[in-house]
Amino acid sequence: MTYETILTERTDDGVGIVRLNRPKQLNALNATVMRELTDALLEFDKDDAIRCLLITGDDRAFAAGADIKEMAAASAVDMFTRDTISLWDRVTKLTKPLIGVVSGWCLGGGMELAMACDMLVASESAKFGQPEVTIGVIPGAGGTQRLTRAVGKALAMEMILNNRTLTAAEAANFGLVNRIYPVESYFAEALKLAQDIAKRAPLAVRLAKEAINKAFETGLSEGIDYERRAFYFLFASEDQKEGMTAFVEKRDPQWKGK
Ligand code: CAA
Repeated sequence: MTYETILTERTDDGVGIVRLNRPKQLNALNATVMRELTDALLEFDKDDAIRCLLITGDDRAFAAGADIKEMAAASAVDMFTRDTISLWDRVTKLTKPLIGVVSGWCLGGGMELAMACDMLVASESAKFGQPEVTIGVIPGAGGTQRLTRAVGKALAMEMILNNRTLTAAEAANFGLVNRIYPVESYFAEALKLAQDIAKRAPLAVRLAKEAINKAFETGLSEGIDYERRAFYFLFASEDQKEGMTAFVEKRDPQWKGK
């Protein structure tokens, strides 16, 4: 498949990579990017040989937000009927782990995309913000909800109401970012993390991701009940037998994803 605004790549060891490719526009998210990005991620998600997904931009920008030029003249009805933001819902329903790899600007819809990822690896130059009020709107792709859950009400208010940005180190301190590396090595380090995750038991990884996400969507006892059922369910898998037998036999497991 060839795309106009993204590049895709796959490694032999199970990592699917999607790279936003509008460097001159700081990877601003227009309707084509949103559609292509979602299509590419869903393709990788369906592919049994892919076990972990990476989404990235370039060193200067992960993404500087929704494409302001594309939406500047739109009416409310245009925005409502195009409804490109609803594509994000499909990104949050991916079954495989999705790692956002962020360098430079990560703003507005770009920050919302990053927060829709399961983990984030950042370069030291990453800068996170929700600047929508500076152009007369508010975050529209989950920012008011995900940022508030991630950093708490006070800081979310300051960031969204007054365009306070976070450095990579601040984002890591608030738990938004897993790891920070120098610009020269952040992508290679993120790839190593993805390659490690790709070696784990695929069904277990999938159910673990689902169970963690339940922590945001349900009450504690419902989440714990879900987790326990998923745990028991895995005893119906070949991978559980293989994983535990391999431990006892002191060898590496060979996963089948079954
Ligand atoms: N949309 C469209 N084009 C954008 C863009 C965006 N979000 N961000 C940057 N660009 C373009 C610029 O227009 C410029 O293009 P030209 O060379 O053709 O003029 C090019 O990218 C480079 O940008 P700058 O010259 O502005 O670069 P800079 O280094 O001086 O500034 C910046 C960088 C601070 C990120 C600045 O570009 C900026 O403020 N961008 C807009 C950020 C923003 O407001 N994002 C939120 C968008 S709304 C949103 O995302 C809604 C939502 O929740 C879904």
